[in-house]
Amino acid sequence: MNSLSLLLWIIGAILVQLAVFLGYRFWQHWLEYLALRRSARARSIPVNARPSSDEAEVMALAWQGLRSFQVVQKQLEDAGQSICSFYLAPQDGLPLAPFQAGQFLTFQMELPVPGGATAAIVRCYSLSDAPDPGHYRISVKRVFAPAGSQFATGRSSNFFHDHVEVGSVLKLRAPSGHFYVDRSDAPVVLIGGGIGITPMMSMLNACLRERPEREIWLFYGVRNSREVAWKSQLETLAANHPNFHLQLCWSNPLPADVSGRDFHQRGHIDLELLRRLLPLKPYHFYICGPTPMLQGLVPALEEWGVPDQRIHFEAFGPASVQRKSAAPDPAGAPDETAALVVTFSRSGKQLPWQSSSGTLLEFAEAQGIQVDSGCRAGGCGTCQTTILAGEVAYRQTPDFDPEPGTCLMCVCTPKTNVSLEL
Ligand SMILES: Cc1cc2nc3c(=O)[nH]c(=O)nc-3n(C[C@H](O)[C@H](O)[C@H](O)COP(=O)(O)OP(=O)(O)OC[C@H]3O[C@@H](n4cnc5c(N)ncnc54)[C@H](O)[C@@H]3O)c2cc1C
Ligand code: FES
Repeated sequence: MNSLSLLLWIIGAILVQLAVFLGYRFWQHWLEYLALRRSARARSIPVNARPSSDEAEVMALAWQGLRSFQVVQKQLEDAGQSICSFYLAPQDGLPLAPFQAGQFLTFQMELPVPGGATAAIVRCYSLSDAPDPGHYRISVKRVFAPAGSQFATGRSSNFFHDHVEVGSVLKLRAPSGHFYVDRSDAPVVLIGGGIGITPMMSMLNACLRERPEREIWLFYGVRNSREVAWKSQLETLAANHPNFHLQLCWSNPLPADVSGRDFHQRGHIDLELLRRLLPLKPYHFYICGPTPMLQGLVPALEEWGVPDQRIHFEAFGPASVQRKSAAPDPAGAPDETAALVVTFSRSGKQLPWQSSSGTLLEFAEAQGIQVDSGCRAGGCGTCQTTILAGEVAYRQTPDFDPEPGTCLMCVCTPKTNVSLEL
């Protein structure tokens, strides 16, 4: 045998070994994937499933309307000092209603306006820690006016940062919301962009407390070290739980931020990153972040083949994410050019609405009709309005259950000609 054929034999042997190794690894992953699918089916892991005794406890301790809470601790969470946590204990001293990790609280506040008067304002804030019998925690990001605009800074968030102190009393509704982590041991991927990290902190802490062995990935996207919150807490959790995989993804690191030491990934969280890092498993994905992030990731996950019922997401405001399952049937889709008629009866206006006119809230505001609103995302009920005639449609089930005969104008559109008591 000459040296060329020897070399060919060696290369051939290496290739065969490599092929056997890759085939074996693929087979292992495939078996693991099938086993997880079987066990998920056997346990029929329903999304957001919870024991019925917990449900009964929540129902018993939840309250109707507003309840007064006192701020017992206030704490900044990031180097840029733009995220501040508030710990809230009930003034009446009665037990707290437990909540599902990922849910939010709705606050009704009276904020000072020029001239010495006050104006009512409603805002939602996610619970940002695992349930605790003594207090709730929320974490508020200070909102500035868009660059170059004449608008005032965010009213509620700046009020929280500048005027809510230990001892302040706030009025809030019981925890609510349909975006919460399931309590099974199915592997889970949490994705938080910016202040969208708050429900993820609640989910992460609750999962690790209830099922310390559960496989959890957290992808946390911010610009750089000024914006990241709870960094040392997250790193400690990752160091203590080998099944918790932390990925800090910074899109615009500062010159002093070092990749591999301060953060794990440079750039935005996208499907390519998830495909590269995640093993082949039937993960549940929970996503909360800015609109562009949701609009990019949700359809990408669907395209990747993640079943609809394993993709859960929430926006902190109006965000239209078109789900494949909710895509209109082209045959039954409304004609873009055909207008439905919306009657605002108290205002005495009758106007043509088209799909480009947006939600009923956006449409009313564009016509100069004043509508009270809070979350603008179907969560707080502030924009609930009586329907006098006709029907409306929701793209997604709202978190707040509107009373019969009413609609949440911020998240619905007309289905037929509709008349509203407004
Ligand atoms: C379910 C849910 C959970 C949430 N959880 C959290 C959380 O955990 N943490 C958190 O920080 N936030 C959270 N939010 C967002 C929060 O509810 C508020 O929306 C946020 O704090 C901004 O409220 P604001 O009153 O400070 O700002 P606003 O006063 O509502 O102003 C918002 C922005 O609009 C600009 N603006 C003002 N007037 C106009 C105008 N005429 N046209 C255009 N722009 C204008 C302002 O300058 C500002 O930039 C959540 C929202 C929802 C729906
Ligand atoms: S504004 Fe909160 S439900 Fe519409």
